[in-house]
Amino acid sequence: MKTLVVFLLLMNVSQHASAVESYEGNSFILLYCQFNTFLLDNPSVVWSRSDLSPPTVHQRQPQGDELKDQNQRYSGRTSMKTDALDTGDLSLNLTNLQLSDSATYTCSIRDFGDELSRSDVQLQVKERFPSWAKALLVLLVLLVVSGGLLFHFRHYFMSVPWVGVESGVESVQLTLKTTVCLPKDAKVEWKDANNRKVHVYENGSDQPEEQDDKYKNRTKMKRNLLEPGDLSLTLKHPTDGDNSTYTCTIYSREGNILLKRKVELKVRDGDTDTYTCTVYSSEGNILLKRQVKLKVRDGDTDTYTCTVYSSEGNILLKRQVKLKVRADCHILAVTK
Ligand SMILES: *[C@@H]1O[C@H](CO)[C@@H](O)[C@H](O)[C@H]1NC(C)=O
Ligand SMILES: *[C@@H]1O[C@H](CO)[C@@H](O)[C@H](O)[C@H]1NC(C)=O
Ligand SMILES: *[C@@H]1O[C@H](CO)[C@@H](O)[C@H](O)[C@H]1NC(C)=O
Ligand SMILES: *[C@@H]1O[C@H](CO)[C@@H](O)[C@H](O)[C@H]1NC(C)=O
Repeated sequence: MKTLVVFLLLMNVSQHASAVESYEGNSFILLYCQFNTFLLDNPSVVWSRSDLSPPTVHQRQPQGDELKDQNQRYSGRTSMKTDALDTGDLSLNLTNLQLSDSATYTCSIRDFGDELSRSDVQLQVKERFPSWAKALLVLLVLLVVSGGLLFHFRHYFMSVPWVGVESGVESVQLTLKTTVCLPKDAKVEWKDANNRKVHVYENGSDQPEEQDDKYKNRTKMKRNLLEPGDLSLTLKHPTDGDNSTYTCTIYSREGNILLKRKVELKVRDGDTDTYTCTVYSSEGNILLKRQVKLKVRDGDTDTYTCTVYSSEGNILLKRQVKLKVRADCHILAVTK
């Protein structure tokens, strides 16, 4: 009678196979196994992995745990409830999960050493961060870092092109070339940072009447500019006051913006100093006053000469002027 009951239960449990998932580093997982052991006289349960040698993961006998055959991998990492054989809850508590714990675990119930039942539990231990996630994380970090660097040094990459020039030069070209094909009837408008119109080209010709007075007679664009896409602007006699960011905007006939580019013009002071040469009569009246612009280079100790000529072209007087000392050339008592 007793054997029959056991057989029926055994059939029931034998069909049980389960699968669980966990993550590497998790503190523990319970591998489920249950059997009505109270009907057995000398029950024992062995948890094992058939792919290991020795295969024993954990063993429980009526006297307690029997771990001398335990595979070293599981040393100190397995436990079962103390009353497991009384209650029939034969679940295995496996702690400190490792990736290599992924396997099929067999729970084998024995009576006097004879196996009565076995059930399998398939355990899959996953990486908390799978390698693709790690790679993604690294990529993300790299992106953020490089993005930050790019942002920090953005002016090196995205800065407005600029042209540097010293004041006093004949002219400067604000170079702007585009490979974009522009329609023939496009309108080109150069403006400075104060929104003043610097140069306007429309309907195939310059439109000087649209220019701000500041730029009258001082600008030039290349002819047939729309063909090779050279939109460069030449600005004559640049001075400090021309220090600005210039915007070139191309409009279609309908007034839509086709292109917008900026060029910065940096006009250095030109390192020039203005010197005055004054010629006085013996009565102290000013006979002549001339302003001379001199270029100063660092450490320059050049000597400049102020020369006064008579109307006939004869040299009346010649004075040498040392830079940074005094530039005025006062000539008293000019006589014919
Ligand atoms: C499994 O064992 C760990 C470590 O001994 C313990 O903290 C945990 O509570 C146990 N889990 C269960 C369900 O008994
Ligand atoms: C350019 O031509 C269009 C029509 O062809 C005209 O409406 C516009 O006033 C012209 N602009 C200039 C500045 O001549
Ligand atoms: C520009 O040049 C024209 C003719 O060459 C002259 O009449 C006009 O006064 C000049 N304008 C300025 C602002 O110099
Ligand atoms: C022109 O601009 C540059 C920077 O854009 C600046 O360093 C320089 O001092 C400016 N010069 C004048 C005369 O404003």
